[in-house]
Amino acid sequence: MADALVIRRPDDWHVHLRDGDMLKGVALFTARQFARAIVMPNLKPPITTVEQARAYRERIVAALPEDVAFEPLMTAYLTDAISPGEIETGFREGVFAACKLYPANATTNSAHGVTSVELIHDVLETMQRIDMPLLIHGEVTSPEIDVFDREAVFIDTVLTPLVAAFPELRIVLEHITTTEAVDFVRDQPKMAATITPHHLEINRNALFAGGLRPHMYCLPTAKREKHRLALRAAATSGDPHYFLGTDSAPHAVSAKESDCGCAGIFGAPYALESYAKVFEEEGALDQLEAFASERGPAFYGLPLNEGRVRLERAPVEVPRNLSLGGEVVRPFHAEATLQWRFAGPA
Ligand code: NCD
Ligand code: ZN
Repeated sequence: MADALVIRRPDDWHVHLRDGDMLKGVALFTARQFARAIVMPNLKPPITTVEQARAYRERIVAALPEDVAFEPLMTAYLTDAISPGEIETGFREGVFAACKLYPANATTNSAHGVTSVELIHDVLETMQRIDMPLLIHGEVTSPEIDVFDREAVFIDTVLTPLVAAFPELRIVLEHITTTEAVDFVRDQPKMAATITPHHLEINRNALFAGGLRPHMYCLPTAKREKHRLALRAAATSGDPHYFLGTDSAPHAVSAKESDCGCAGIFGAPYALESYAKVFEEEGALDQLEAFASERGPAFYGLPLNEGRVRLERAPVEVPRNLSLGGEVVRPFHAEATLQWRFAGPA
């Protein structure tokens, strides 16, 4: 049994770094483990222009100590009204790495999202032409659709026609949670999917374990056990369609423990420890490097990171809460002991 694991420095292909004091509190958790991250644009107001993305990128870099090497990869938040010209300019200038499609009201800060994919056909045509990735929150929002079916129904009713209409468009189905998503993505030459630590670790029972558990609530919500097992098989399989994206989404404890608690799990502080746990349990530690450090860059057409990081077999006690940005935030795995410790650069 190996006691240390050295892998190429990984990237996080889906993270919420927030803004203001919260950004200052959370940015280093991501930057200490990951060389680059695809930063979600769902701020208030959302990042919809090249200028906003440039300024946000500067705020992220300014939130980190100077000696930390970290590259935020910015995304544009698609709205019904966004112009193809703005997207193309941002991509060509190296500001936008990708566009994010939130169906309107699907999740936190998505009220300005797209109400119907038909309304952004010109944007998608442009993205296909310039080979710019589209990142999708894959859930329908109609209240009559059961919340646990929203990803599968999205795949049938929105994603399938979208892929048929834009066969050359590179698409990431973000934070997948179902066997339907695993199976759909596997067959698509131009697609990939990110998988979070929490969807590999919990099923929907975690939301109700002994009482209501707001810190296990995120979107898309965790599903039945068979789906979690399918995600674990996909992540550890060696198939290049699946790679790391934490969807780390910090909210103050007070905002989660509320009459209408926010969706989001704060996975950044122990992200690699969490993935290492899953890969070891699946007997697939040898696949962790490809999942965490190789397949994402391959999909995005970016170079592999040069550095290496080290994980050691040593107990890590995850605190109940972290105080950051003047807020108290609960990390994923709170009060658990993990068996792999992130030990920094190798
Ligand atoms: C995210 C957030 O809080 O910004 N929440 C979540 O549950 N994942 C939004 C998102 O990615 O859906
Ligand atoms: Zn997210």
